[in-house]
This record gives sequence, structure tokens and C-alpha cells, in this order.
Amino acid sequence: MAVAIGRDIAHAVAILKRGGLVAFPTETVYGLGADARSPQAVGRIYAAKGRPSNHPVIVHLAGAAQLAEWSSDVTPLAQKLAARFWPGPLTLILRRAAGVGDFVTGGQDTVGLRVPSHPVAQALLEAFGGGIAAPSANRFGRVSTTTAQHVAQELGERVDYVLDGGASEIGIESTIIDAGGAQPVLLRPGQLSVREIEAVAGSAVQAPRADAPRVSGALAAHYAPATTLLLLESDLLLELAATLAKQGKRVAVLARSALQPLLDGIVWIAAPADAVGYAHDLYANLRALDAAGCEAILVEQPPKDLAWSAVNDRLLRAAAGSQQAAAK
Ligand code: TXA
Ligand code: MG
Repeated sequence: MAVAIGRDIAHAVAILKRGGLVAFPTETVYGLGADARSPQAVGRIYAAKGRPSNHPVIVHLAGAAQLAEWSSDVTPLAQKLAARFWPGPLTLILRRAAGVGDFVTGGQDTVGLRVPSHPVAQALLEAFGGGIAAPSANRFGRVSTTTAQHVAQELGERVDYVLDGGASEIGIESTIIDAGGAQPVLLRPGQLSVREIEAVAGSAVQAPRADAPRVSGALAAHYAPATTLLLLESDLLLELAATLAKQGKRVAVLARSALQPLLDGIVWIAAPADAVGYAHDLYANLRALDAAGCEAILVEQPPKDLAWSAVNDRLLRAAAGSQQAAAK
């Protein structure tokens, strides 16, 4: 039996209240949700993802008014960022409040908090009333999901219900900022850019220190398809694609410039040329290319400027995932 996909908020809330798992849409990617106050329910997230239990999960809230229930130190910086960017694609890392479990924080003293803007996520959070712990709805280390159908393919009956909210508008995960101090620290780039955060914070965004909190999305290998993925400049990509194709190997290409498929037998996706459009389609494109059963996925290196930093971050980690698998 396949997992049920639907739009029934009351049903989803009933499942969460009895400790079950509900996948739900957000504007970034789909989340795999559980009652953030229940160790058993959150434990099921780790089991469903195959994720190590010392990785913290983000707690999703209906509004910034709930911040004080989850953090004992809502800094002026956090207040400013929340007021400007919530609901939206921003996660704030703050000192946790008493009673926020190790099973949510991975044993750290901090907790990740986010108010998503997707109307279905908002409706779910409002109706549930409490915090919903939710990592991205994918198996650990794999490509995140941006549609209800992708969640169902990825997790099957490991999840009790999938709320369908259509394709995620942004397509890559939220920007994560450690807002526990006076200056913002970037733990994961996202579509909400460093420049926008600096404009509101009134100070420069810092790079994390070596002893910064663990972020599993920042593991070198992450977001990886099962097929080997190589990130290449255009000319090298064309050369390699031609060589592999001549050897009779099936090759998949994710191109973004005006590159044209020169040879038959190449599975070719032309991604949008702008960073926003590219991010929107990225995970669906990687899934489609992964499913094509090719020897390798060759990805044309996007520009390296700030607008592409979140996309490049995900592509680098996806490529690192392939390298690790190949080394095993
Ligand atoms: O857009 C998103 O952020 C999506 C949607 C569902 O909200 N969620 C998401 O969750 O990407 P996940 O678990 O795949 O990535 C969240 C990241 C993880 O890398 C985790 O380590 C980090 O947030 N994180 C959570 N709590 C943290 C904490 N207390 N300190 C440091 N990092 C934390
Ligand atoms: Mg993830």
C-alpha cells in the first residue's frame, strides 16, 4: 500500500497528536514533521530518514510570538531578523529554552527555529498549536524533496501522511543564521542572501568558527543522487559527455547555458539560466536525471557569484557525495 497523499489538515494534526509522522510542504522544500515535544515521535523521524541521532532538527512554529517558548535568549538580532523575514526561508539558531529536548537539539545548547510561509504549513502549524520538528523529507544524505509525489517516492510508508501543497516555490533549503550573538553567523546559505540579512542586522555576516554548531546540511557530502555526479565547466563537460557517449555509455547532463546536446543518447535537461529558476527546479531535475539510469550525471558549473552561492553549495555537496560513494 502506498502512503496517503492529501490536503486534510485535521487528519494531519490527528496523526501528529498521536505521535505519527506527517510530511508537509514549505516554500523551501518538503519537511518530515513530528511533534517537537515528543521524544518518541521525533525518534521516528530519525528512523525514517536513516539519520544519525546526534543531528539536530529544526522546530517549525506558527509565528514569532512562540519564540520565547523555545529559546531562553531571543537576542535583539533574532528579533530584528524574525520581524523582517518571518514567515519565510530563514532558520535562526538560538539558545534553547529549558525543556527543549536533546532529541531535537542533538544534545546541543541551541535550537533551530523557523516560521515557514507556505499556506499549507501555516495552516498545519496553526491547527496543531505547538512546534513541529522537521528536517527535509528525504533519506539521510540524499536529494531533498520539493513535491508530495517525490516525498512518497523517497519515504513511502515510513511516513504516515503526506500533505500536498504543490511544488515548493524556492526549491532549496532555508538560510541558517546563528543569531545567538550580536553579529549574524551564516551556517547554511539559502535564497535569502547574506546581503539582505546584513541590511537588516546592520552588521556583517560572519563565517562560522571551526567549533560552530553541527549542521548536517553542511556535511561535505549531502544532497547526493545515487548516480555519480560531476560538476564541470562547459568545455570539459562537453568533452566528457562525448567520450562517454562514444563508449556506448548513457550520460545525463544538467546544462544551464546555451549548451546544446551535440550527440544522441544523452539525457539532457536545460536548467533555467537564472539562479532563482535554477534553484526552483534543482532537486526535481536531479531526481529526473538520477532515475534515467545513466553512468554519470554531468552538471555544468554555474557562475560563482553571490546570487548562485546557495545553488553552488548544494551542487558541491552533491558532487562530494558521489566522490565518497566512489571511494568506498
Ligand atoms: O528549509 C529548510 O530549512 C527545511 C524545511 C523543511 O524547513 N528543513 C531542513 O532541515 O532543511 P534539515 O534537517 O534537512 O536541515 C536543517 C539543518 C541541519 O543541517 C541541522 O544540522 C541544522 O539545520 N540545525 C538544526 N538545529 C540546529 C542547531 N541547534 N544548531 C546548528 N544547526 C542546527
Ligand atoms: Mg536536509
